[in-house]
Amino acid sequence: MSEPGPGITVGPLPPRHPEAGFDEDPLRVLQEGHRRHGPVFRMPVDGVDTVLVGTWPGLGDLFGAERGRLEVLNTPLVHDLFGRALFNLTGDGHGQARRLLRPALSGRALHAYVPALLEVTAPVAARWAQSGGLDLYGAARSATGAMSARVLLGIAPGSAEGAAFAGYFERFVAATGAPAGARRRASGRYWTGRVARRRLHALFARQAAAVGRDGEGSVLARLVPAFEGAPKVAGPLEDHLLALLIAARETTASLVTWCLVELAGNRDQAVLAAADARRALREPGLLLDREELPVLRAVLAETLRLHAPNLLSMREAVCPVTLGGHLVPAGARVAYSPSAGHFDPAVFPEPGTFRPERFLGGEVSASRLWAFGGGAHACLGRPLAELMALAIVTSVLGQGLPYLPDGPPTRIRHRPAKAPVNPLPFTLVRQESGS
Ligand code: HEM
Repeated sequence: MSEPGPGITVGPLPPRHPEAGFDEDPLRVLQEGHRRHGPVFRMPVDGVDTVLVGTWPGLGDLFGAERGRLEVLNTPLVHDLFGRALFNLTGDGHGQARRLLRPALSGRALHAYVPALLEVTAPVAARWAQSGGLDLYGAARSATGAMSARVLLGIAPGSAEGAAFAGYFERFVAATGAPAGARRRASGRYWTGRVARRRLHALFARQAAAVGRDGEGSVLARLVPAFEGAPKVAGPLEDHLLALLIAARETTASLVTWCLVELAGNRDQAVLAAADARRALREPGLLLDREELPVLRAVLAETLRLHAPNLLSMREAVCPVTLGGHLVPAGARVAYSPSAGHFDPAVFPEPGTFRPERFLGGEVSASRLWAFGGGAHACLGRPLAELMALAIVTSVLGQGLPYLPDGPPTRIRHRPAKAPVNPLPFTLVRQESGS
């Protein structure tokens, strides 16, 4: 759909849906909204009237209409902290930046990242196995941070630069929780984050200077030559690196957490996935072969279906646009939920049940999932995200089967990424040989 052409009548504003219960169980409210009103409806989100788009046809419509009509809605805080990072760019600059960044995050580039990732995940998994009990989400965040530092920036695990990076990055991330508008300037967190941003930029420059010595096998090593002489509209490399680091962190930690939560509750699937993991540890190249490790891949797909890390992605209509036959005026806030179509029983029978086997044997394809978004701003790091998640889950299952002594999380938050609210005790149980 697009701007209405001459002689074309547009429908009324999208119907309203009550937001009651959204804070406690947002997916239930979104699904109910789509069940009652179809792919497009209106509802206040955080007190602001928002056009919600979901379901398979709704997202197809949205991504078709997006270019030139909808822009990513980022707050003044996000613009300040991330500068001209990919998700803050529009039009030609955005397209050029994506073209420059993509080769370092997909395709042949991934081959060099496999040993680099396993170099991080093998000792992490061994520590998890030795620990008498740890907080799963905290441990997954820390492992994801170490993987990102290694593979995005070329920082060796356990190095002094790694510790410095972790400290600056935590302060930078904390600043994203400062007030989003003008009041941010009265917030200590905001100013601490601004200092951390400068320190991270200096650290990126040091790593870039080291490229060719110890920066081999990193995204940074590939991006330094790609951005030499790049047009200014494509934005500076250091801002893009901050975008990659933030985009990789909470989402991938969320995916790893829910994958292990589900495997802890589904022993048969865990045993089958562990057999795939042992093969991958013997032959790491299999991590990049989409025809191999079918159970592990199906487990990740089913986790993305049931537990898509991102709840909502925000847009603003920069001109009038019709979505699902409804008029959306310029200036309206629009949001899509990647996972609001993941529970359609016509596509995913028994939608509330963890059934990885639905992705084996042709019942349904993982291409029906929207967890990585779509359209102009679709996740650029998807292949790397999948590789990172496979690497850590493989290393962990190589040590034992996941076990949650207190059971699965009971309180869940959905933003910035889906995660348990409280610490989640977790251990690994060694498998008897042959079991
Ligand atoms: C399980 C892990 C991940 C999930 C579920 C995920 C999901 C998403 C989604 C839904 C979007 C679209 C946002 C929108 O429409 O506004 C997105 C964008 C993006 N993601 Fe990911 N992501 C993941 C991991 C990663 C990783 C590892 C990287 C890079 C290393 C990455 C880099 C990006 C970037 C740069 C964008 C912005 C693209 C643009 O604005 O053009 N993501 N991601």
